[in-house]
Amino acid sequence: MEETKSMLLIGDKLPEMEVQTTHGKKVLPKDYLGKWLVLFSHPADFTPVCTTEFVCFAKNYENFKKLNAELLGLSIDQVFSHIKWVEWIEKELKVEIPFAIIADDMGKVAAKLGMIHPGAGTKTVRAVLIIDPEGFIRLILYYPAEVGRNMAEILRVLEALQISDSHNVAMPANWPNNELIGNRVIIPPPSNIKDAKERPKQYECFDWWFCHKKV
Ligand code: BEZ
Repeated sequence: MEETKSMLLIGDKLPEMEVQTTHGKKVLPKDYLGKWLVLFSHPADFTPVCTTEFVCFAKNYENFKKLNAELLGLSIDQVFSHIKWVEWIEKELKVEIPFAIIADDMGKVAAKLGMIHPGAGTKTVRAVLIIDPEGFIRLILYYPAEVGRNMAEILRVLEALQISDSHNVAMPANWPNNELIGNRVIIPPPSNIKDAKERPKQYECFDWWFCHKKV
């Protein structure tokens, strides 16, 4: 019978595996527990859009650090290719790449993580997984090869997830610049009639199911 592969989804634990990186061997998710991990794939080394992304990730490295997050790249390239590319970026563009990159020569890690999409070729798509400090996948983003990612959005979601966890709230569209409630956050819906009636007395609300507050 044909083996069916199930896709990794939000809420799944990151599969355990040992990976070869430019900073040596790492064990996922074990070596990153206690931190947020932004694990992202790019189609290939020595390609222009990927180079612009690496420069942006590097320039935002301190912003990720401030959010207790580590970056980890991945592509189906050998480690010597990653090393040469990082050297090239440092020499020619004067940008140091401070994070590790997985050398997934055989594409096995990418396949396990759902980063190869057969309809989009044999290379990794531009995937971003945000993994929480307990090793659970909290966000999955896929971009096509022809569009570079937006660092501000990745940082925004990371911060939003952290505030959501610590305050048990949800973030509106375009948070923290939402058109209706600005930087305020949304209270999760009530689960019974009594709570629904109490809501407008406790919070600012458009209705009992749409209440918000400042954090
Ligand atoms: C790039 O990074 O420039 C790129 C990679 C794969 C396909 C198209 C563009």
